[in-house]
Order: sequence, then structure tokens, then C-alpha cells
Amino acid sequence: MNVKERLIVALDVDTEKKALDLVDKLKGHVKIFKVGSELFSSCGPDIVRLIRKKGCDIFLDLKLNDIPNTVAKASISIARLGVSIFDLHALGGYDMMKKAKDASEEEAKSLKVTRPKVLAVTVLTSFDENGLKKTGIYDNIEAQVLRLARLAKDAGLDGVIASPFEVKLIRENLGKSFLIVTPGIRLGRTAPSDDQRRIATPGDAIRSGADYIVVGRPIIEARNPLDVVQGIFEEIEG
Ligand code: C5P
Repeated sequence: MNVKERLIVALDVDTEKKALDLVDKLKGHVKIFKVGSELFSSCGPDIVRLIRKKGCDIFLDLKLNDIPNTVAKASISIARLGVSIFDLHALGGYDMMKKAKDASEEEAKSLKVTRPKVLAVTVLTSFDENGLKKTGIYDNIEAQVLRLARLAKDAGLDGVIASPFEVKLIRENLGKSFLIVTPGIRLGRTAPSDDQRRIATPGDAIRSGADYIVVGRPIIEARNPLDVVQGIFEEIEG
């Protein structure tokens, strides 16, 4: 895969104008844009259609987690939007993941469009060991991530979202074709980590075996987002 295809830019903004301005600035360089809960709650599904009209692919990051029937129905609506990727929480369980994947696949088939890839969130990159313990999970993060990644693979999902720290472990255990997407990307050791806890640079994440990296604030809050994107490509290639 071309290095340019490996970067997913998170459009974590609250208006259509801000989102489309970013897409216009970056679209010749970035293929996939991530629409998350902030933008989706502000603009609704139309924002997905507008970005797709500009020729870009969408990762719809709503991190679904509900009873299997509800998530399966949401997955059908998401498949109709024509996104390339969407995600749900692995903690929703095997049945929820399997029904979501099957329902979205079937809907895409009946519409004769490419089915969206379905990814499972394992342990959010904002968690450290202490934060995980407070939720009642006493295994270390790596064990929990691998357990949930296995469950997602068993349920037929295409891959997982994890931190750069767990990529090698997932790759070794679940094989080459299982997609791994890593947020928690920061551009240098001195860059602010914000609310992220398990972070790495773009190059380190890709070299550890991630298929895609997701980057939000370091790009969208920069004075010149395109300069940052080009710096990321250079860092990965270097
Ligand atoms: O601004 P920053 O680069 O930290 O943004 C990371 C993006 O990735 C955010 O949109 C966040 O919602 C998303 N994300 C994440 N951890 C996950 C899944 C998605 O940080 N496990």
C-alpha cells in the first residue's frame, strides 16, 4: 500500500464548513477521512455524502456498542451511506459483532456496492493500566487487547483499532491480513499527548506493522495542515 493511503485524518470539528475546508486542503494527499461522533452529531449523515462527493473515502467512527439487533440495524444504515470503514466496540461481544458484519455485508450486496470494512475498538488509546483497572479489568492492556482482537476475528471482522504498542502482538497472533488501525499518534517525543496515553510517532506505528494510522489534532489544529501531512509521509518513509 502506498504511504499516502495509510494516513487517515480525523475530522474532529463541529461544522460542515470546517470539515469541508480541511478536506479541500488535503484531498489530493489524503484518501481516507474519519468522521467521528462530534462531526456526525453536528452535521448528520449528509456530511458523509458531501465528503464522498469530493472523491474521498470515509471511516465512520461511531464506535457502536448496544444489543446485537440495534447495532445490526445501524450497520445496515451505515452500509447505505457508502462508507469504506466503520467501527464498533469489541466489548459489545461476539453476537453483536457478527450480526453487524453480516447485516452490513448483506445490505451492501443487495445494493451492489463494496461492503464496508468493519473494525472493532479494543482498548481505547486514552487508557493506561490504571484506567483499565478502574473499569474492573485486572488483566494488563496487552492481554485485554489480544483477547478482544481474537474475539473480533472469530466474529468475522476485518480488523481492530488498538494502540501502536499492541500492533506487534496482534500481528504475530492474528496474521497478516487482519487490519490494524492505530490512533494515539503524536509527531515527536515532545509533542503534547492531550488525552491519549499509549502514543507513538507515525513511522514507529507503521514500522511496528500497523496498516493505517489515524491522526486528528496534530493535523487539524496546525496552522498549515498540509505541511504536517507531508511531514508525516516523510517520517514514515524515512
Ligand atoms: O486528535 P487525535 O490524533 O488524538 O485523534 C485521534 C482520533 O482517533 C480521535 O478522533 C479519536 O476519536 C479516534 N480514536 C481513538 N482511539 C480509538 C479509536 C478512535 O483515539 N480506539
